Amino acid sequence: MKYPSKVKIVDVGPRDGLQNEKAPVPASVKIELVHRLQDAGLTEIEVTSFVSPKWVPQMADAADVMAGITRKPGVRYSVLTPNMKGFEAAVLSKPDEIVVFAAASEAFSQRNINCSIEESIERFRPVAEAARASNIHVRGAISCAVGCPYEGEIAPERVAMVARLLKEIGVQHIGVADTIGVGTPVKVERAMEAALQHYGVDDISGHFHDTYGQALGNTLASLQMGIWQYDTSSAGLGGCPYAKGATGNVATEDVVYMLQGMGIETGIDLDKLIDAGKFISDFLERKPNSRASTALLNKRAG
Ligand code: HMG
Ligand code: MG
Repeated sequence: MKYPSKVKIVDVGPRDGLQNEKAPVPASVKIELVHRLQDAGLTEIEVTSFVSPKWVPQMADAADVMAGITRKPGVRYSVLTPNMKGFEAAVLSKPDEIVVFAAASEAFSQRNINCSIEESIERFRPVAEAARASNIHVRGAISCAVGCPYEGEIAPERVAMVARLLKEIGVQHIGVADTIGVGTPVKVERAMEAALQHYGVDDISGHFHDTYGQALGNTLASLQMGIWQYDTSSAGLGGCPYAKGATGNVATEDVVYMLQGMGIETGIDLDKLIDAGKFISDFLERKPNSRASTALLNKRAG
């Protein structure tokens, strides 16, 4: 079995992680989290979303957060933009990458972005065009790639269809997302195979929520297919406000611990990463939702 020798981790904690928090998190805390993540060696951070503040109040400070970051050379800062209004606001804060987010489930598309899959593609088309004209990299998320909170199991053909539609409008990279963390390794492999019909292995990432404790297994299954890019969340924060019951992304700490143990390079300093996760967890007055973090913090305490 051959694994990739290097893995790129995109920490989505400041966005996917914090979007679901009920109590406001000040922009200064989000900025500090981004700073700590880049100091730990993360080379891509999903910072925020330019979405309706009525829908996701926690992301209302998107422009302030982007403006407050001291950028580190070599780090890519990405933001979610569901439509032209979001893109026009986002572009002022000079993101390196924008993310349009589609779904493999009609019901989830309606709940999450208030339109059908087909309508969403028409909304994304000018966003992708404008971004590429400004030299901003365009990533697309495919939510509910294995299961949907409203429709249940999702066939791989749905993933292939959405991947094709995203490819047609110029989206350069896609994330295969298990939004509600119901996937298991073989199902995830099938979703990845479907994505691979339209995108190369270097242009696909895995985005696994850990609701059922399957995210590390799903990551390992994807690694075995050569997929080497993953979205993970500091301290396992998060969930989607439109996917009831879904918990956070797999913890960055757990994925980095696994990869280090496998001799796969990430460029991330696990100790500093644990401190970053502890920082945001202390602010939220809870323990980091990461087994590796818990074990290593216990070991430090002695
Ligand atoms: P809509 O109501 O259909 O939009 O919402 P609209 O165009 O009819 O506009 C309605 C109002 O929203 C107007 O304001 C617009 O100006 C405003 P009003 O006139 O009523 O005062 N508006 C905006 N404001 C700020 N930024 C914008 C924007 N667009 C319109 N970009 C919309 C459509 C997509 C905006 C809405 O449904 C929305 O914001 N949804 C948020 C969805 C979201 O953020 N979900 C979580 C992120 S996705 C996720 O977590 C999944 C992922 O992690 C992968 C995975 O795990 O699956 C990526
Ligand atoms: Mg997500």
